[in-house]
Amino acid sequence: MAQTINTEVTRTDAPRKVTGAAHYAADFTPAGMLHGALATSRIAVGTLIGIDTSKAEAEPGVVAVFTHETLPDYKTVKGFYAGGPGSASFWPMEGTEIRYAGQPVAYVVAETAAAARRGAQLIEPSYEEGEASIAMDPSDSFIIGAGEDSKGMTVTKGDVSAGLSEAAQSVDVEYVTPFQHHNPMEMFAATAEWRGDRLTVWMPSQSVRTLRHGISKAYGLPETSVRVVSPFVGGAFGSKAGITPYTMLTIAAAKAVGAPVRLIVTRPQMYTVATFRPESVQKFRIGADASGKLTAFEHIEIAQTSQFDEVVNPGTHMTRAMYASPNIHTEQRLSRSDTNTGGFMRAPNEMQTFFGLESAMDELALKLGMDPVELRRVNDTKTHPVAGVPFSSRSLMECYDAASDSFGWAGRNPEVGSMTDGDWLVGYGCATATYPTNVSPSAARVRMQGTGHAFIELAAHDVGTGSYTIFAQIAAARLGLPVSACDVVMGEAHLPLAPISGGSTTAASAGSAVHLACLNVAAQVAREVSQMSDSPFSGVDPDRITLEDGVLRGPDGQTQPLLDALASTPRGEATAEGEYRHPALTDQALKLTYQGGYGVAGPVTPEKAMFAFGAEFVEVRIHRWTHEIRVPRLHGAFAAGTWLNRKTAHSQLMGGMVWGIGSALHEVTEIDHARARFLNANIAEYLVPVNADVREVRVEMLEEQDDYVNPLGVKGIGELGIVGTAAAIGNAIHHATGKRLRKLPLRMSDLV
Ligand code: MOS
Repeated sequence: MAQTINTEVTRTDAPRKVTGAAHYAADFTPAGMLHGALATSRIAVGTLIGIDTSKAEAEPGVVAVFTHETLPDYKTVKGFYAGGPGSASFWPMEGTEIRYAGQPVAYVVAETAAAARRGAQLIEPSYEEGEASIAMDPSDSFIIGAGEDSKGMTVTKGDVSAGLSEAAQSVDVEYVTPFQHHNPMEMFAATAEWRGDRLTVWMPSQSVRTLRHGISKAYGLPETSVRVVSPFVGGAFGSKAGITPYTMLTIAAAKAVGAPVRLIVTRPQMYTVATFRPESVQKFRIGADASGKLTAFEHIEIAQTSQFDEVVNPGTHMTRAMYASPNIHTEQRLSRSDTNTGGFMRAPNEMQTFFGLESAMDELALKLGMDPVELRRVNDTKTHPVAGVPFSSRSLMECYDAASDSFGWAGRNPEVGSMTDGDWLVGYGCATATYPTNVSPSAARVRMQGTGHAFIELAAHDVGTGSYTIFAQIAAARLGLPVSACDVVMGEAHLPLAPISGGSTTAASAGSAVHLACLNVAAQVAREVSQMSDSPFSGVDPDRITLEDGVLRGPDGQTQPLLDALASTPRGEATAEGEYRHPALTDQALKLTYQGGYGVAGPVTPEKAMFAFGAEFVEVRIHRWTHEIRVPRLHGAFAAGTWLNRKTAHSQLMGGMVWGIGSALHEVTEIDHARARFLNANIAEYLVPVNADVREVRVEMLEEQDDYVNPLGVKGIGELGIVGTAAAIGNAIHHATGKRLRKLPLRMSDLV
């Protein structure tokens, strides 16, 4: 049997995707379906004092218009950061209060999508407008759970002031990162169909179980009455994890009109009805002795949050894991402003915090007169600097060595502004990438048939990353079947437990469950054949029959392909479930996962710290006269345990690095401060890198064995690639120009 893991396997779902046979949530059309549209608030803060729906109701095709007064009641659920399944804790159309611009105020149902949207435009709300601000005020920030430190939001080891006074060189610097929005290709959509007390919801989701849990709570239904369907997701990046207002409103509207309703959220509305990456300020004070060894490390992150949730994606938990230092202080702070609640967006804290950390390390290296790679090497550690436990594996410097070789870092003249090519100033920069390894409890069911087919079922998701393919590969490797004979069924909440497809958890967690389910299939076949008179395993203790690469092996050297053994059994088919739990998983985290929450073991357990690592090197070219910034080369080397699929993993890492270029140079949600609104709320004016912005991107995938993280040795890679790219680009810009840009995006206007 050909090896199927750690090889390049083309996506099994590719033909379905390119032929249109892959059905995304909004492709399901229940009979008699009507269309919904949202009318949203133009003000950010205030009170709705009236809402005239008469023109909308008179619009041809409009069936019904709902406001806070007429929409059927449901029980609202808490937001994710308050421990609930919601994208935010504040639910629109519950009353007259307006708390953010773009908040839904009315829901129009019509016979066509066009009529619904026309109707929504004819809604006439009147407001009493209050004072609103999206300007973050870092001086007015607070620490979550201050005083009790229950969530590790502040950590102190040693004495940072003393460490700084001993330092030969130090930096005291501040970096700023902007609001960013995900803009997935597939728009937010929800279709709801009630049949009596049974409800089906089709919605693109990173967590069908989270949706089912929240919806059943909202309506007091048993979870078995709520079907949630999301077989394909056209990009999510954190935006499709929680249950959102537009979903709840669609379900309520469908109930009220007594017909299925589908809502496709408009591009501008996508900026306010779900989540985003909050803006942040990253403050660092880092000191080092003359050899470069850190004497003090302080990181204070201040992130924006809404007035009604406390969005904590704790970046300081990651930065303090990076470099050895005897004195460490970190603080996780929040500052409120008048927006909807933010959330996760690819590497939800690491993108921002590593822009800060890795720029600060570059500044420190310059002050020390040290090569930036050597500064990382001197401070590399095999032990978590705060928790004191060893890393389960940590190949950071191997990544630096591989990427610097391939990039040609040795050819860099360290002197700032020394490298030119005609009118172009050339700069080289580098930075560290990391991502925590989060492993969730997960389950899978595998049915193997003597015909040579297997069916793998689990409530996991393919958000475009290749999950369908890697689960088929794992099953193929264990069962001894071709990948094409392994059919994976996912994206429905009633399937066996799988985690939220977020935090780069799916491959490691759900993959381990598929692996264990296959072992259980083999154990079941072993039990059956051991009782058959005409089997090579006849009379053998089934516990002594093992599975290796699809072949059963007995204690006395008997071997038989699992498929042949299965085909010889009377039923010719075997079904088994596998349940995966990391030994460090707490009962609380297990319970949370069953409730659709984010229950994980790691990244720091009582025994080990689990992280994936990488190093990114970049060449920038800055035009001497126009200050145009170009990125002709980006090289990354990564180590993340076992590679399941070298093709899809490569795509994930490359995609992350390309997005890193966007984060560095293009992406920003601009703010209209006068009206406290997101200004460029559409995909045309929200800039992302295009082909002309991306030239050579080289990805190296290093081998790394890690037996602690999970049975497959897999660390997550969905988010690793974006981390550090912005800092590497900023560092290269400094090398080329001598200008240190500390605010994203890095713009040519900042170089003038
Ligand atoms: Mo991803 S930002 O963890 O959904």
